[in-house]
Amino acid sequence: MKIIRTKDYGEMSRKAAGIISAQVIMKPDCVLGLATGSSPEGTYEKLVEWYNQGDLDFGDVTTVNLDEYRGLPKENDQSYYCFMHRHLFDYVNINPDRTFLPDGMNEDPDAECARYEEVIRATGGVDLQLLGLGRNGHIGFNEPGEFFEKGTHCVDLHPSTIEANKRFFASADDVPKQAYSMGIQTIMNAKKILVVVSGEDKAEAVKNCFFGPVTPKVPGSILQMHPDVTVVADEAALSLCSLPE
Ligand code: F6R
Repeated sequence: MKIIRTKDYGEMSRKAAGIISAQVIMKPDCVLGLATGSSPEGTYEKLVEWYNQGDLDFGDVTTVNLDEYRGLPKENDQSYYCFMHRHLFDYVNINPDRTFLPDGMNEDPDAECARYEEVIRATGGVDLQLLGLGRNGHIGFNEPGEFFEKGTHCVDLHPSTIEANKRFFASADDVPKQAYSMGIQTIMNAKKILVVVSGEDKAEAVKNCFFGPVTPKVPGSILQMHPDVTVVADEAALSLCSLPE
């Protein structure tokens, strides 16, 4: 695992965008696994900026997102579908037919999870998976539990995740209680993984995921077992870890 320490969120975003750009330049028809949330917003902003400068071409790129709320229509502005359009898809030359997310409105969890696994399989596999880290160590919506969930599954969101995400909704009651999420195995199948993490409120999660025991109680700790993980973290997120300067 490679840990890149940055001064702040801005530098983290530039470094992460640089890694994604390198992937797109080296393999223009690559498959990117994408995340939503505050952590990658700055990264997407940089990608859009570099696209506008003519330095990036998304014309042959395929994307698969980690997760989507269950029961939220994609037109809802808090859906992850809307997030991706608002932060990236609407501003670059990506083919909308090659951007994939779980369908939060499919009421049949088994059918939706099987469909989404098949979508990912049919892309030929994820070349680079971008991840944020939940404060409780979750990746995607793989919440702390007794075992690692393998494939795409329907998740009951942890109360702390609902609490963390209520800032985007009118109240905690409006936050969907379930989501469809890639599983740990789905994530681990990516050839390369890029984690972006910023802020003091993530310091405990960073310490537990990357310097603690590998356990389903800290889902992100599984990343220690992946052969090609890069963590781009700012000083605040690394404040509980002793790394060489
Ligand atoms: C988002 C996702 C989540 C977030 C995590 C951190 O698609 O899968 O795991 O990455 O909850 O969220 P932020 O970045 O908002 O702190």
